[in-house]
Amino acid sequence: MHALEQKILNEGIVLSNNVLKVDAFLNHQIDPVLMQQIGQEFAARFKDAGITKIITIEASGIAPAVMAGLELGVQVIFARKYQSLTLKDDLYRAKVYSFTKQTESTIAISNKHIHSTDKVLVIDDFLANGQAALGLADLIHQANAEVVGIGIVIEKSFQTGRDLLLDKGYRVESLARIASLDNEKVTFVK
Ligand code: G4P
Repeated sequence: MHALEQKILNEGIVLSNNVLKVDAFLNHQIDPVLMQQIGQEFAARFKDAGITKIITIEASGIAPAVMAGLELGVQVIFARKYQSLTLKDDLYRAKVYSFTKQTESTIAISNKHIHSTDKVLVIDDFLANGQAALGLADLIHQANAEVVGIGIVIEKSFQTGRDLLLDKGYRVESLARIASLDNEKVTFVK
């Protein structure tokens, strides 16, 4: 997606050879116009997939997921990473290990909002090692619903996530695919 790649080149900051800071438009400040275009791009790629629901994870997955949900005309659920005062019972839970942060967290959604007839699109902001996407897919499988695809805003293609998800048979659509962050420079997959 050209506009996203340009935004990454203009406003992304390479923190190390494996971390890209995009607080200017995705992880802290959000650019609503770009986010709307991101939603339209996800919708275009998945328009014939019969999607009935989108699932993402708090916090930074919410904006692109909502925009995609608006375009596709479906409800959006975000998995919680922290205990909620109101969300306590009848939960599907999955453990997610972050190789980047070396922490394990439990993510959860209510079983009220997802059904066995749902065809679900998973959306997330970053794809690194694929653990968040796998955790979300686990929640969907617990509901006996179908994972139709995984939509990613920024994929770090030099990490293991994409291959892991493809090996499991998931369709992965990433709007920007980064081949390398070496030498403080962003290079995209050609
Ligand atoms: P994985 O799910 O693909 O295995 O990813 P990983 O554990 O490596 O990532 C953990 C967190 O770090 C996730 O956000 C993910 O989006 C984020 N992340 C991974 N690589 C990068 C990167 O290069 N740049 C930025 N900006 N973020 C990265 P999170 O902790 O869930 O945060 P948030 O959604 O609350 O913002």
